[in-house]
Amino acid sequence: MPAIKSLPESFQWGYATASYQIEGSPDADGKGPSIWDTHTHKPNITIDGLTGDTATESYKLWREDIALLKSYGVTAHRFSLSWSRIIPEGSRHSRVNQAGIDYYRNYIQELLKNGIRPYVTLYHWDLPDALDKSYEGWLNKEEIVQDFVYYAETCFAAFGDLVRDWITLNEPWCVANLGYGTGVNAPGRSSDRKRCPTGDSKKEPWIVIHNQILAHAYAVEAYNKTFREAQGGQIGVSLDSFWFIPYDDEPENVAAAQRAMDFRLGLLADPIYKGAYPSSMKKILGDRLPDFTPEEVEVLRASSSDFFGLNTYTTMFVKDGGVSDVLGVVTNTFTGKDGGVIGRESHVGWMRDSFASLPTTLRLTAWTQRYQKPIFVTENGFPAKGENDKPFEEAIKDADRVAYFRGYVNAMLDASVEDGVDVRGYFAWTLLDNFEWADGYTTRFGCTYVDFKTQKRTPKDSAIFLNDVSFGLISLQAF
Ligand code: FCB
Repeated sequence: MPAIKSLPESFQWGYATASYQIEGSPDADGKGPSIWDTHTHKPNITIDGLTGDTATESYKLWREDIALLKSYGVTAHRFSLSWSRIIPEGSRHSRVNQAGIDYYRNYIQELLKNGIRPYVTLYHWDLPDALDKSYEGWLNKEEIVQDFVYYAETCFAAFGDLVRDWITLNEPWCVANLGYGTGVNAPGRSSDRKRCPTGDSKKEPWIVIHNQILAHAYAVEAYNKTFREAQGGQIGVSLDSFWFIPYDDEPENVAAAQRAMDFRLGLLADPIYKGAYPSSMKKILGDRLPDFTPEEVEVLRASSSDFFGLNTYTTMFVKDGGVSDVLGVVTNTFTGKDGGVIGRESHVGWMRDSFASLPTTLRLTAWTQRYQKPIFVTENGFPAKGENDKPFEEAIKDADRVAYFRGYVNAMLDASVEDGVDVRGYFAWTLLDNFEWADGYTTRFGCTYVDFKTQKRTPKDSAIFLNDVSFGLISLQAF
């Protein structure tokens, strides 16, 4: 009998969620509007024309959601705070909303009562709209960095007696490139004047990347200075990346795959964990990539995060050359040189199930070697193709999602046991079918089926599967 592979005793299992995708109640208890409230109320933004005004009504149904988490046997839960519930106008010169703080304190206390450890994301894309209106939000370095730090300090002070695990930002790459490059996400800026009245896709994403890195670093610095010793917690960031593999062995394609990783992940992870942008980026982007001042470099170096939060969904092949420099002048494809296509199709064009354990294992290993930090998988999940059109009884039998989780979790186990990668937790995306940004409600990522008319929640097979895995009832090596 082979030895049973297992993850460390202290390993955390849970789900990840985000405020705008689940809460609804956009103006309850003094909340100010966020850029997502404003964005989704413009015409032709989401596929189904719907907004997050209702979402899964979790602002009201939060006790039920926590009971669901408890029934799924999780040890931890990753969720995000809505900045504009806590500071309705967002800025350091404006009022803190006690009702917003009370709401999240109750939420956190209920998690703890149920033995669930809170992993709190400060920013999952819902910038207070007032900051966008008054000074163009993430584009304005002088203002946004100070306002983010003020908001972060407000949260450390309000919740830090209960919370040990902080994530500053979720997926800054998407904030920059979808919000200011394609303009699909809020605040909807881009050079495409047919879609967006303002924006410059060539310049703005890089400024937004830069300012988010600084906001993160200065927030970590504030945590270190004032809160770390008393609260004894840890702080990191959640970065997303595809895993890019060379199309073939040609040296230019091998280099292109590395460049694609630099442009997708290194542009954030290198400054955050090592203090400088990858050199390949400066070469291609020149002056469009802002420089860090000597003082900022100092702060970056001194504020290296405690852990690496990795949001991982899919894998693509990379060839050298391409029309756009956003991804590093490369071409990405799901089809390999031999004509084979990566994994199973999902409901969305940007990802397929690429669970073959090798890429994930390599990815986790390579990233640990490069950044030398413990890893939490802070998101991983699958939108089963056509699920939204299936009758309820079929939708909850989500075999494709189970297969996805089986592959990825198994790969993570391999990376941990065989390669000694320091993986400390896994958060599946996501607890509930929810408002999936520009897809509206048409793309379901949940392990719990939500009937959006009645808000009834029903566990899918994937929730039962993950529960069994995390309890050790299913030994993964059996797959
Ligand atoms: C990630 C986001 C998350 C969700 C998943 C599918 O990029 O962080 O909110 O939309 O993708």
